[in-house]
Amino acid sequence: MLLHTIAEVRAKIKEWKKEGLTVGLVPTMGALHKGHLSLIKKSVEKCDKTVVSVFVNPIQFCPGEDYEKYPRTLDADRKLAEDAGVDIVFAPTPTEMYGEGHIMSNDFLTYVIPPFFYVNKLCGKSRVGHFDGVCTVVNKLFNIVQPDYAFFGEKDRQQLIIIKKMVKDLSIPIEIVPCPIVREDDGLAMSSRNKYLTPEQRKEALVLKNILFNIKTCYNSGIKDVEALTETAYSFLESCHSLEYLEFRDKNDLELKKVADSDTIVFIAVKIGEVRLIDNISLDN
Ligand code: PAJ
Repeated sequence: MLLHTIAEVRAKIKEWKKEGLTVGLVPTMGALHKGHLSLIKKSVEKCDKTVVSVFVNPIQFCPGEDYEKYPRTLDADRKLAEDAGVDIVFAPTPTEMYGEGHIMSNDFLTYVIPPFFYVNKLCGKSRVGHFDGVCTVVNKLFNIVQPDYAFFGEKDRQQLIIIKKMVKDLSIPIEIVPCPIVREDDGLAMSSRNKYLTPEQRKEALVLKNILFNIKTCYNSGIKDVEALTETAYSFLESCHSLEYLEFRDKNDLELKKVADSDTIVFIAVKIGEVRLIDNISLDN
């Protein structure tokens, strides 16, 4: 069922809770693909009821980013979600979430600000304020749906780590379930933003997974020094790729690593033309 208002969702959740049913929440911005569907599948398997939110959240986009042109495909999303066993597709308007004046007025003033140490690096460095917007909307969704479980993809690993920290720090009674990255057959991590790529750029986009998979092969062959592992990336980069970051960080607290180990995540962001793509790999076997 498709619901647009907070009140409608609350009423339905109340019924379910009375019956003692468990609820799973899969927060998304829509344009659903197999990556999202893997989270939905996990929720449907684990929980009695599943809610998927479809909301292109204005407060997590920085000025000049793709908020306006972000793909909006609600009809198709609804069909995919319901076919996958979802009970509620919650698609609020920005006004429903943030009031008439949205974020530029007194209608909405309270934000959840994640710790600086977690956001001043990787995607947070170039997307200032992005994770404030993510934590704020996720908190609102948690309060509206009050799920027992919430499902997040490892594709957005920094986001997942920040959400886990928020849940722990604020004692939010929800279990965060991490879900592995779903890739296309050729290895490109699925993303709603892949739609922006021209056929030529789509081929170039494989540079992210090529670098990550090669680093993992080198690590498995015994190279642990991060400087040496980083150097292996340069042979893959061409003039059309603009590397934003390639960093080795701890999977729990995002601390930088000098020597790679099984707790290490390798994070990469590359701009292909105007399209910014991210990916990551765990060095844990
Ligand atoms: P969105 O980019 O739509 O992603 C929704 C969820 O799907 C996230 O948890 C993301 O990590 C997961 N996901 C996307 N692509 C994936 C893939 N290839 N494999 C596995 N999981 C994948 O992330 C957001 O929306 C927003 O920031 C949100 C959390 C909804 C807050 O607005």
